[in-house]
Amino acid sequence: MKKKDLISINDFTKEEYMRIMELAGEFEENPNQDLLQGKVVASLFFEPSTRTRLSFETAISRLGGKIIGFTDSSSSSVKKGETLHDTIKMVSNYADMIVMRHPLEGSARYAAEVSDVPVINAGDGANQHPTQTLLDMYSILKTQDTLDNMNIFMVGDLKYGRTVHSLLMAMSQFENPIFNFIAPEELQMPDEYKLYLKNLGIRYFEHKEFTDIISEADIIYMTRVQKERFSDPIEYEKVKNVYILKNDMLENTKPNLKILHPLPRVNEIHTDVDENTKAYYFTQALNGVFTREAIISHIMNLK
Ligand code: CP
Repeated sequence: MKKKDLISINDFTKEEYMRIMELAGEFEENPNQDLLQGKVVASLFFEPSTRTRLSFETAISRLGGKIIGFTDSSSSSVKKGETLHDTIKMVSNYADMIVMRHPLEGSARYAAEVSDVPVINAGDGANQHPTQTLLDMYSILKTQDTLDNMNIFMVGDLKYGRTVHSLLMAMSQFENPIFNFIAPEELQMPDEYKLYLKNLGIRYFEHKEFTDIISEADIIYMTRVQKERFSDPIEYEKVKNVYILKNDMLENTKPNLKILHPLPRVNEIHTDVDENTKAYYFTQALNGVFTREAIISHIMNLK
């Protein structure tokens, strides 16, 4: 049987998204299921991570699997000059599945081509972060009871933000989405994603500010301005605090509104929002465990 990878969110169909949502619900009910017993999963993080790595490792542990890998490639033979090709070739001899984060766009697709075992993209540069998207969708479904008719505000770094790129593509599969992009000139949503929406006949609007229109939002998806993606630190300083969501801005918002953020945050959500019932980002991160159990289960055909 051909191995199954998850590199781009478009590698899965809408039916598969819904199957992952269903499985995630089952794992939320019953997280400890020994479905991965006897299997080894390699967790290769060439870039820093807290949530993605630890929630994957929690998911693997709750499924009864074993984890090998590294959290810092400088502790591996990459430091001695070993190529990504050779690293993946070796690891795919040791493990039954590979979870990889890497700073280069396209690296995950390349790893999947080299590997004999399934590869899951845990973020490749500014390109895609499909497992984040599936947990975002699970969070939207849980809080809104639907994935249709969502008015989604994406705020902050829409240029380098791989989470918004994947989420936009996935939510485009559902009925009647509206996207509002709020970003400074330097960090606008790239043309390729706007063209993607145009070709599907999906409405999107671009803004520099959002206080006047915030009452229309079902989901506000805040993002961090990613210092590590800027080659010029002065350019980062210009835009780093351009949007800061504060509690008083939420007064006249919809009752169903939820605020999501892939995290980590820096300044873009004031801590006074944390106690608001519309703040959902910490539960969203918890949903990552159940969703990643579901993704592993689907890819490895465990259920
Ligand atoms: N959301 C996310 O990718 O967080 P980490 O960088 O901590 O994994």
